[in-house]
Order: sequence, then C-alpha cells, then structure tokens
Amino acid sequence: MRVLVTGAMGFIGGHVARVLLDEGFEVAVLDDLSSGRLVTLTELVRLGLREENVFVTDATTDEAARAVRRWSPDGLVHLAAQPRVIASTQDPVRDARTNVLGTVTMLDAAAHSGQCRVILASSGGAVYGEQAGAAAATSERVQPRPISPYGLSKATAESYAGVYGALTGLPVSVLRLGNVYGRYLDGSPGPGVLTRFARAVAAGEAQQVIGDGRQTRDFVHVHDVAEAFRLTVATTAPVVLNIGSGQETSVLAALQAVCDALDAPARPVHVARITGEVGRVCLDVSAARTKLGWRATVPLEAGIRDLVKNPAGAVAD
Ligand SMILES: NC(=O)c1ccc[n+]([C@@H]2O[C@H](COP(=O)([O-])OP(=O)(O)OC[C@H]3O[C@@H](n4cnc5c(N)ncnc54)[C@H](O)[C@@H]3O)[C@@H](O)[C@H]2O)c1
Repeated sequence: MRVLVTGAMGFIGGHVARVLLDEGFEVAVLDDLSSGRLVTLTELVRLGLREENVFVTDATTDEAARAVRRWSPDGLVHLAAQPRVIASTQDPVRDARTNVLGTVTMLDAAAHSGQCRVILASSGGAVYGEQAGAAAATSERVQPRPISPYGLSKATAESYAGVYGALTGLPVSVLRLGNVYGRYLDGSPGPGVLTRFARAVAAGEAQQVIGDGRQTRDFVHVHDVAEAFRLTVATTAPVVLNIGSGQETSVLAALQAVCDALDAPARPVHVARITGEVGRVCLDVSAARTKLGWRATVPLEAGIRDLVKNPAGAVAD
C-alpha cells in the first residue's frame, strides 16, 4: 500500500512515517518545512524513505495537489497544519489558510487520484471547545463548539471532509488527538508543556503555568498516536475517533509528575490565561478501542521519565 504523509517533517508526522516504513508500506512525504525539521527527513531516509518520494511544497498549492495526483497514493495522512491555539489567535488568517485551504486542497487531490482513503489529524481539545457543565467524558458524538480560530479551522476541515465524502465517495477518517508529547524522531524532546516544564525544572528555574493550572488535558504519547494512525490507514471503513489516554490530568498535576521524575521541587509562576485555550479536556476513548482495537500503552509517568532524561536538548514550544 502506498501512503503519502503530509507534515512528515513535524513532530507527529515523523513518527507516523516511521511506523508506516517499519510496516513495509511505500511512503511519500509532503512538507513545506515551515516548522518541520530536516533532521527528521534525514532520519526517515535512513529508515528507508526514497528521495524521489519527498515533496517539499506547501499543501495549499496547486503544485502540492499535482504531486499527490501524480504519486497516486492509496492512503493520505494529512498532518500538515498550523497546530497552535495561540498562533491562531495572533494570526487567524494564516491559521485558516493552512488548516482549511490545506485540507481542502489535499481532499480534492485525493478525490482525483483514484482509490485513496484520507486520514485527517484533528484536535480532541480545541474542536470540542468548552463543554460547559458536562459531567461525562467527551465522546465523538458531542457537538463541537470551538472557541479559538484553531479549533474552528480544525472543525471546518472536518466538515469539508464530510461533504467531500458525501459528494465524491472519498473515504475520510478523522482522529481527534489529545495533547501529544514525547520525543522527535531524532530523539530531541518534542514540543509542548511537558517539555517546557522538564527544561525549567532541570535548569532549576521557576516554571511558567498558564492560569491557575487547574485546566485539564489528555496527555498521550506520540508512539501511541503514531500507532493509531497506522491502524486507521489499514481500516477500510471511515472512522471519527478520539485518540487519547482517557486520563484527565491538570497542568499542575503534570508539573508535579515532572518534578517527581526529576526529584526536584515545583516552583510554579502563574501567568495570564491564553484566550481561546479550553479549560477542560476529558476524552472518552472507548470507541478507538472497539473500532480500531487501539488503546494508549505508555503511562504518563513512564513517558515523563523518558522525557526528562535529556531536557536540555529540548526544542522550545
Ligand atoms: N501536537 C499535538 O499535541 C496535537 C494535538 C492535536 C492535533 N494535532 C494535529 O496534529 C498535526 C501535527 O501536529 P504536530 O504537533 O506534529 O505539528 P508540527 O508543527 O510539529 O508539524 C506540522 C508539520 O506540517 C508542516 N506544514 C505546516 N504548514 C504546511 C503547509 N502549508 N504545507 C506543507 N507542510 C506544512 C510543518 O513544516 C511541520 O513539519 C497537526 O494537524 C495538528 O493540528 C497535534
């Protein structure tokens, strides 16, 4: 099976391309290197990615659409995106261009390249938004209520997928990811709040906590996320699934877990909340188990212990 991965030079995309190569898929990658890293590409080539299957281009362009149509994949995993809430509030136009136009361009190219199934990366936090008063964990049946341009661009991309599916028969799956953490493909610590905490604690610096730190997240390890994409690529019936640990963890509890792993005291410094960031993420991940046979396998404490081994080499969020 031939699978094209967009955003493959990024954090999650590098791992998705790696598991697909490991499983013997023929893999192509498409990335504009806006935040992707050449070191990830070098690593993928070392793992068997062929240089003629590398497309360095912007996913919103005709050039990218032509590259997809010409390569004619059986599966397209679309991860290329502007992935940050804060950047989306600072520049909503860029966010919409990358996340909405990029997705539509890839859906359209896939629809015109024969028998291709598409898997979109969405967000299990930003798309649902604030589900005020919800007692239960958020299942995929809950109506999205985004509160940031990022959440809206991801929800809009999902809606386009639904319309493309209905109009053209294109099978599109959506994975709504929790807070993904872990290391980049080359081993350096990945983006996100856990890496920032690890760096600060290891350096003996105070740790910047946004708001009161009681906001919750579903932290899920990048290796588990890559496996969810691999399983979805191999699934013929389209799915919409939350991909997370199913464990609700406050930011302060996550900081404490980092401090425990480093055997150092917490010294939180609270800063103003970011507009558009949701207060609670609590994902129901039972459907991923029944439909994909997937569940998260890396416990948060073990993932954090691995992350703190070399926090000095961390890449800033
Ligand atoms: N990291 C998380 O916790 C998280 C959570 C939920 C959803 N997601 C989604 O997962 C996907 C991957 O996120 P990530 O954390 O790996 O981000 P990342 O920034 O590490 O990777 C994104 C990649 O896409 C590339 N890219 C950006 N715009 C592009 C364009 N117009 N054309 C081609 N390539 C482009 C970048 O160069 C980069 O390599 C995104 O769609 C993101 O919204 C991530």
